Amino acid sequence: MAEAKAQRQRGGNAEDVSAATLAEAGLRFEVDGEIATITLDRPDKRNAQTSAMWSGLARIGDSLPEQVRVVVVKGEGPSFSAGIDLRMFTPEGVPGQGSFSSAARLDSTSFEQRLKEAQQGFLWLRRPEIVSIAAVQGHAIGAGFQLALACDLRIVADDVKFCMKEPALGLVPDLTGTKPLVELVGLAKAIDICLTARTVEAEEASRIGLAELVVAGGDLAGAVQDKIAQLLSTNRDAAAATKRLLQGARSRTLEEQAAAEGAEQALRLRALFGDTSA
Ligand code: CAA
Repeated sequence: MAEAKAQRQRGGNAEDVSAATLAEAGLRFEVDGEIATITLDRPDKRNAQTSAMWSGLARIGDSLPEQVRVVVVKGEGPSFSAGIDLRMFTPEGVPGQGSFSSAARLDSTSFEQRLKEAQQGFLWLRRPEIVSIAAVQGHAIGAGFQLALACDLRIVADDVKFCMKEPALGLVPDLTGTKPLVELVGLAKAIDICLTARTVEAEEASRIGLAELVVAGGDLAGAVQDKIAQLLSTNRDAAAATKRLLQGARSRTLEEQAAAEGAEQALRLRALFGDTSA
């Protein structure tokens, strides 16, 4: 983590993540000034996810250039992502990446380590210095739903279909999706969605707080661009400090949160109006 931060402070650079390696993992990554775009790029397989893809996401996070303020995560083709590559359920697994049967044979420490590495691909999307936006069309199933949940905001097309399918397959959602889901929709609705593995479509997603905005499919890219313009219109350091405050709000008492607001504001005032002549 410290190494990744140091790398970002050195200016990070998109070259650190080889485009060829990412392409092999089914990813594209582009940086345009303050905006980074990650594209899941296996449309013929509905952007099914593999451990190589999760490592690629983690590497992008580690080398994200420091100037980036907004990260867009999107999927090529008709679906955002159809979840984990179903070859994981076969004895052969995904070539070079194992299978669920091989994972089942790992000792607990090795399994935890492997899962932690996969989860790193999702967790960095919550960093205070950035705002992450999932642009979601079509199916977002299992790991696909969890990747959308890993982002700060979800802008969705009106054909969106969220489904937490893991319990139907005998598994639990383990790619960091359960906490944001509960925080967004509440415990009862999260239980309903996960334990029935039912599909949540656009109107419900908007109503229960899973999606910030629903637009017609053809308008998805434009709606994301509009949101990026709004996000970039505020002061970058104030935005990061405010995100830190908002992220910590649930775990603090009102008095603790008030104190945290004061501490952040003191830093802002010093940065904006402090005497630099000394
Ligand atoms: N893994 C691997 N391949 C997949 C895939 C997946 N998850 N989802 C789709 N594909 C492949 C299909 O096999 C098909 O390949 P071929 O053309 O070579 O036959 C291609 O993508 C297109 O798929 P469909 O023809 O089925 O496309 P569709 O648009 O009619 O349907 C879909 C799309 C509803 C998403 C359907 O493909 C589907 O149900 N996919 C499986 C979804 C699923 O069960 N995912 C696992 C979720 S659980 C999870 O993610 C677990 C976890 O994190 C631990």
